[in-house]
Order: sequence, then structure tokens, then C-alpha cells
Amino acid sequence: NLRQLGRDHLDLVYLRRMNQDSIAEHFGALAELREAGLVRHLGISAIQPRHLTEALEIAPVVSVQNRYAVDAPDPRADELLRMCGERGIAFVPYYAVAGQGGERGAAGTRNDDEILAVARAHGVSPAAIRTAWTLHRGPHVLAVPGTGNPDHLTENVAAGALRLGQEELERLDALHTQDV
Ligand SMILES: NC(=O)c1ccc[n+]([C@@H]2O[C@H](COP(=O)([O-])OP(=O)(O)OC[C@H]3O[C@@H](n4cnc5c(N)ncnc54)[C@H](OP(=O)(O)O)[C@@H]3O)[C@@H](O)[C@H]2O)c1
Repeated sequence: NLRQLGRDHLDLVYLRRMNQDSIAEHFGALAELREAGLVRHLGISAIQPRHLTEALEIAPVVSVQNRYAVDAPDPRADELLRMCGERGIAFVPYYAVAGQGGERGAAGTRNDDEILAVARAHGVSPAAIRTAWTLHRGPHVLAVPGTGNPDHLTENVAAGALRLGQEELERLDALHTQDV
């Protein structure tokens, strides 16, 4: 990768967990690359809270990237988001726009009435509300909405400046914590 990119180091490399019970072996290998100066920072992805604890015993973690969306209740992801906030680690949700659609993209997404109502009130798209909600979960939350559409890109960047009211957040939070 370094030769292909013409770099002497990579700034951030994620370990994407592929359902392993323990990430120690793979994360340990990346930690060695970090020690050797080839990687500056390490992140981990698709993990459970216990994997963050496991990784932190091996090397510093600057970022956790996990599936997380307003309409995808997931207490373990909430716990992870909280753990990251307490430790000064960035939490980066993926499929925040696609939601239940996941890898099928936004075409597979159903926007609940709560999302539609808040979007109407701000005159923005449901996608923008989905992104804004994740950013309201804490100052350590970053957004990586994916798009191949320049208009959507503009909307997604603007979503970073949206400010949701307390009542709106309560409606959206209720959607996130509903029984699955
Ligand atoms: N760590 C991991 O294991 C993992 C797994 C999956 C994804 N990711 C990363 O997470 C990021 C996001 O993933 P993703 O792109 O698959 O999911 P996503 O951002 O939740 O959703 C993308 C879908 O939403 C649509 N969309 C985006 N902005 C929109 C807007 N403003 N209005 C309407 N539709 C909009 C896109 O269609 P258009 O192109 O038509 O806008 C596309 O169908 C990517 O960087 C990806 O690499 C990481």
C-alpha cells in the first residue's frame, strides 16, 4: 500500500473485524506496523464493546467505525459510542443514511414518520436528518455518508450545520431505542 500510494506512512488504518471472537492477533499485527512507524494511528471496525477493551490493551485506538443509524436500535453500539466518548476516541457510524437498507443503499431504506416530520420542519431531506442525528450523539461522532451524487454531497455536508431541537431529538431518540 505504501509503495502504491507513494507514502512513507499511512495516517490511519482500520482493522475490520470479520466475525473473529478475538481481534488480538490481527490488531497486534497492525500495532507492530504502528511501532515500526509505517502507520500513524489505528482504528477498529465492526466490533463489540469487549473488542475495544481488548484492543486498548495492545495499542491506542483513535477511531471506531461501526454500523449505527437512527432507525437501527442496537444497545451494544450505543454502549460502544458511550465508551468511545469517555475515552476520547472518534466514533464513526456507517450505514447511517442507508439505515436498514445497509449495503443495498438508500433504495432499501424506509424513513419513519419521525424522520420525515423533522426533515419537513427543517426543509431538508431525510438523509440530512439521519446524518445530523448521528452528529448530535456526541462531539466525538464523525460522519461518512457515501454518495455518488454531487447534490447529495452538498446536502450531506450541509447536514453538519443542522441543529436539532430538544423535542426533535427526543422523537428521534425514541425511534432509536424502540423495541426491535
Ligand atoms: N467499516 C465497515 O465495515 C463499513 C461497512 C460499510 C460501509 N462503510 C463505509 O461507510 C461509509 C458509508 O457507507 P455507505 O455509503 O454504504 O452507506 P450510507 O452512507 O449510509 O448510504 C449510502 C446510500 O445513501 C444514499 N445517499 C447518500 N446521501 C444521500 C442524500 N443526501 N439523499 C439521498 N440519498 C443519499 C446513497 O445514494 P446516492 O449515491 O444516490 O446518493 C447510497 O444509496 C462509506 O465510506 C463506506 O466505505 C464501512
